Amino acid sequence: MLKSLFLVIMMILSVQAKSQINLINQDIERRIDEIIEKMSLEEKVGQSCQITLDAILKRDISNNVIEPIQIDTQKLTEALVKYRIGSILNVGAHTLSIKEWDYIHKNIHRYYRENIISVPIIYGIDAIHGVNYTVGATLFPHEIALAASWNPELAKQFGEITAYETRASGIHWNFSPVLDLGRQPLWSRFFETLGEDPYLASEMGKAIVNGYQGKDKVDAYHVAACLKHFVGYSNPQSGRDRTPAWIPDKMMAELYLPPFKAAVEQGALTLMINSGDVNAVPGHLNYELLTKILKEEWGFKGFTVSDWEDFDFLHNIHNTADDIYDAIIKGFNAGVDMSMVPYSPQYKSYCELMIRAVKEEKIKEERLNDAVRRILRVKLLIGLFEKNSNQAENYNNFAAENHKKLALDAALESITLLKNDKNILPLSADKKVLLAGPCSDNLIYLNGAWTHTWQGDDAKYNTVGAKNIKEAFQQKIGKDKLLFSKACELYLEKGYESSKLVNLKEFQKYAKKADVIVLALGEYPSTEKPGDIRSLNLSKEQLELAKIAYATKKPVILVLTEARPRIIREIVDEATAIVHTYLPGDFGGDALIKLLYGEADFSGRLPFTYHKYDGQIEFYDHPRSVAKSKAGSFDAFNPQWEFGYGLSYNMPEYKSLNLDKTTLKSGESIRVSAKLVNKGKSSTKEVVQLYISDLKASSVPAGKRLCAFRKVELKAGEERIIDFLISEKSLYFADANGKMVLEKGAFKISLKNLSAEFKLD
Ligand code: BGC
Repeated sequence: MLKSLFLVIMMILSVQAKSQINLINQDIERRIDEIIEKMSLEEKVGQSCQITLDAILKRDISNNVIEPIQIDTQKLTEALVKYRIGSILNVGAHTLSIKEWDYIHKNIHRYYRENIISVPIIYGIDAIHGVNYTVGATLFPHEIALAASWNPELAKQFGEITAYETRASGIHWNFSPVLDLGRQPLWSRFFETLGEDPYLASEMGKAIVNGYQGKDKVDAYHVAACLKHFVGYSNPQSGRDRTPAWIPDKMMAELYLPPFKAAVEQGALTLMINSGDVNAVPGHLNYELLTKILKEEWGFKGFTVSDWEDFDFLHNIHNTADDIYDAIIKGFNAGVDMSMVPYSPQYKSYCELMIRAVKEEKIKEERLNDAVRRILRVKLLIGLFEKNSNQAENYNNFAAENHKKLALDAALESITLLKNDKNILPLSADKKVLLAGPCSDNLIYLNGAWTHTWQGDDAKYNTVGAKNIKEAFQQKIGKDKLLFSKACELYLEKGYESSKLVNLKEFQKYAKKADVIVLALGEYPSTEKPGDIRSLNLSKEQLELAKIAYATKKPVILVLTEARPRIIREIVDEATAIVHTYLPGDFGGDALIKLLYGEADFSGRLPFTYHKYDGQIEFYDHPRSVAKSKAGSFDAFNPQWEFGYGLSYNMPEYKSLNLDKTTLKSGESIRVSAKLVNKGKSSTKEVVQLYISDLKASSVPAGKRLCAFRKVELKAGEERIIDFLISEKSLYFADANGKMVLEKGAFKISLKNLSAEFKLD
């Protein structure tokens, strides 16, 4: 039995190892040589230039984009034929229909099809939780929720469907996944990350890349992935977007680099650069990271793209370049291959200044050729040179039922049960429910930013037919069993999230009639700079609403739709149940109802530490000193909920933990096996999490580190042995200079309540 399980694991590992794109193919390299040979300097420079769609749209006399959008042929011809630009990105102000996308691509691609230009345009989009800029597309939970599923297979399928629907929109390049670590909860883009742990982010990130790019070749149903934002962007000290990060070499090596390295090894084709600065070096000037580590040490053969307007930022915001000319030279020489300029007329001066820089030998032609080679390589690998590569007609499965089912499954597997006193859940359908709270009756709270519009807060674009929480409740228990009183509203005031209590009399009147109160609490959708917040506390009025609900003495269930862990300490104890939905997408309402009513079991687990105090932001892998209390005991690490935490209706028991040896020698591995039993009445999924602690080391060791995990399904009454193979690869740590080292000595393995020790010899 054990042997066969071991074989299955090895088979899975070898399948995973094979599913990556080989970026170097001799035929393609020869073709690149031929193309480059014929290219003028202007054409080469143009390849490195990316403009936004807005730059080629028709505008009215007040300079507003005309709706519905129309391509301005003169502007497009100028960009493609005169300036020879190589790439276009983005959507205009809002989501577009497949028909509109088709119109855009046919217009752009025509220049290549009709041999007016010799290199096709690569179009890029942020399809970060499904194709969020295409009307009717399948919208998934955001990455933070996907991470909470702890299910790489599901993440891969999410990637496949998103790639398919991106291609159905005529687009070959997705600016996703975000591999920044979620360790700064104030940061507005926390929800775009795969959580706080480098191993979890690496495993889920690799799976998404595989899903986007496909197995051996980016075929007509796949897209190029773009890893972002390399690296350290997610950790601004102030919490505000694009403000300085300070990351010691040790943390860079142990935490921030590994997810990127893993995805590069997986064959990721492109990578976007950090718009902020780390240790006073802007991402776009970091030669050490972009050229030395990424391209030379890791052997990355795809291309790097700047983030939005970053050459301008080097000069105007970071103050690290005298002018735009200087910024272009410094950035390009540091290793930027393509620049998201992206406006007009700025792109024209970008091209002109680049040409000048090469002529003046400030940028060597060799460096330009290297960038162009990388860009052409990706364009060839993803099939862009095929003349009919933008046909939208062949994608009949766009938003198909099986796609929607997968988005529902993703929400079901990520929503996390954090508290369930007196087994109030699952609810019985005959109970009268009072639903309230700002996030109860609008889909924008389930989808968050990057949904139909950049900030995702315009309800007029909501997916037709997708249900918000209120509608999902109504469908389940009918209008007569559902009482609704919103009681609190969220809105923006001077750009910052605010809330107010409304119509509390109605709320109190309905509360008397209800058997249970459900409060949908959360945050106003936002991202990037507009998403900067000033405090991690959940808004005062929402906390107050919970207290008003507790005063009714009815059981209260809190449903959180949050982009990050907002501090809710004051309202946790009196809540009867708490469910975290993250940002679960268009099917979040349906999934929530299925879970609340016991039609499925909860299996989401937190991919981050849920902090209790905003003055105490600490992580699960903290060193021992963090746990020391004032009294001298070691129980001071007390977050609201720990990383990896989550409840199920049927929590399996962990019966035994065995190691097949207690001394590990170099080149060997230890087989760790644990026995689990589901004593519950129905099947459940459990995330088995294996942590390793280095007991003594030459530099302060992490308290523990996640080194393996697996999501397993256990039928009612099932007892199962789960196996992991641990090698010395999991025992490395970074020294103060960021060098990975391995030291002999004692280690502890822990799995839930069980632990065992072994020695590395
Ligand atoms: C964001 C990127 C995004 C790009 C294109 C930038 O502002 O930082 O994540 O891919 O815009 O939309």
